Amino acid sequence: MSLLLCLFFSPALSLNNGLGRTPQMGWNSWNHFGCNINETVFQIAGQQLIETGLSKLGYIYVNIDDCWSLKSRDANGQIVPDPIKFPNGITGLASYLHNIGLKLGIYSDAGTETCQGYPGSLGHEVTDANSFASWNVDYLKYDNCYNENIPALKRYPPMRDALNATNREIFYSICNWGQENPWVWGNATGNSWRTTQDISDHWSSMMINFYMNSRYAKYAGPGGWNDPDMLEVGNGGMTFNEYVTHFSLWAMVKAPLIIGCDMGTISQSTLSILNNADIIALNQDPLGVQAECINGCDYANYISGAQANVFVVPLAGGDKAVSITNWGTYNMTYTFDLTKIGVTGQATIKDLWTKEVQTSNAIHVTGLQKHSVKVYRITSNSLDI
Ligand SMILES: *[C@@H]1O[C@H](CO)[C@@H](O)[C@H](O)[C@H]1NC(C)=O
Ligand SMILES: *[C@@H]1O[C@H](CO)[C@@H](O)[C@H](O)[C@H]1NC(C)=O
Ligand SMILES: *[C@@H]1O[C@H](CO)[C@@H](O)[C@H](O)[C@H]1NC(C)=O
Ligand SMILES: *[C@@H]1O[C@H](CO)[C@@H](O)[C@H](O)[C@H]1NC(C)=O
Repeated sequence: MSLLLCLFFSPALSLNNGLGRTPQMGWNSWNHFGCNINETVFQIAGQQLIETGLSKLGYIYVNIDDCWSLKSRDANGQIVPDPIKFPNGITGLASYLHNIGLKLGIYSDAGTETCQGYPGSLGHEVTDANSFASWNVDYLKYDNCYNENIPALKRYPPMRDALNATNREIFYSICNWGQENPWVWGNATGNSWRTTQDISDHWSSMMINFYMNSRYAKYAGPGGWNDPDMLEVGNGGMTFNEYVTHFSLWAMVKAPLIIGCDMGTISQSTLSILNNADIIALNQDPLGVQAECINGCDYANYISGAQANVFVVPLAGGDKAVSITNWGTYNMTYTFDLTKIGVTGQATIKDLWTKEVQTSNAIHVTGLQKHSVKVYRITSNSLDI
């Protein structure tokens, strides 16, 4: 293309910060602590990510949510970190986390106020992006309250551009609750975009968010991900099997894996879900494809649980992963023929929770209990695919 044509047809500004080549992993204060936060909460979360081994598995972002600042900007128009909650400032917390090998995230809002009534960044994008960068922040979650009904496309790109102008690599997590089709413009704007309302610590909330998010698989890929909201695993509102399902499905669909429980009191059983390296490997697979539904895909089936709900995803190197979910309340028996996903002949089938390995051309599931999932990694043994 000639220079002149380039000038006329130069692409719209798009995000190109090199981040989020796989979905982000870490911890965020909101689901457990809400507004009851302070520096100690984040120090403990960071220490625990290290001590439990979770950071080595990829959970590296420690993210502050709402309620970290004073209610008013200072005389220079800058947001001021609450000095009681953060006696060493955000900079002090960033140093603490960076020194132990982790990264720090912060929160703001593309409106006049945050959801809890703290200063929002609408109209202050440059000032606030500069503050975040000067505090050595690595991640921004950008919410949608008090947005004055201004279109998202007038509110989210300005913060993208302000973050870019700081020259600091800052992961940009768009949180506008699936309004105004963020899957369409999300990839040019941020590293992830919420596709749904907020999750709550209940089976039905998790199910609805998972279902809604699955409709936008084709928009996700390296650099930009659909976000059905953060994990509730370990917060107490679901059974162990339900949390295994929640975690497995988030991994399958390349959702961000942001832990939301109290890291200070995390149980061994919660840890045994969050630290499943085989499941995490599906989420962090470099091919970066979001799993898609191939059986029992209607919302009516999620409600009734009448049929097995099957998702499949291709992985780098030619393997595939399959999840079989029982949304119902009975013990499910189901057979899945691997030719349905183009695998002919015998394949090695690994159950990623029990670790059992078998060679077969079909998956037979018997007695899959209510609200439970099976996840398999399939390696074809035949040469013809
Ligand atoms: C800013 O955007 C430009 C152009 O897309 C890109 O090359 C650069 O890496 C970005 N910088 C940061 C810090 O995100
Ligand atoms: C920090 O917050 C935690 C969690 O809300 C609370 O238990 C603790 O007492 C607080 N610490 C200080 C020094 O305020
Ligand atoms: C997202 O945008 C990048 C360029 O920034 C592009 O390479 C990639 O294909 C896009 N992903 C999807 C799923 O459209
Ligand atoms: C389902 O199977 C489990 C064992 O896997 C058994 O304990 C339970 O009683 C069964 N429930 C029903 C409704 O058959």
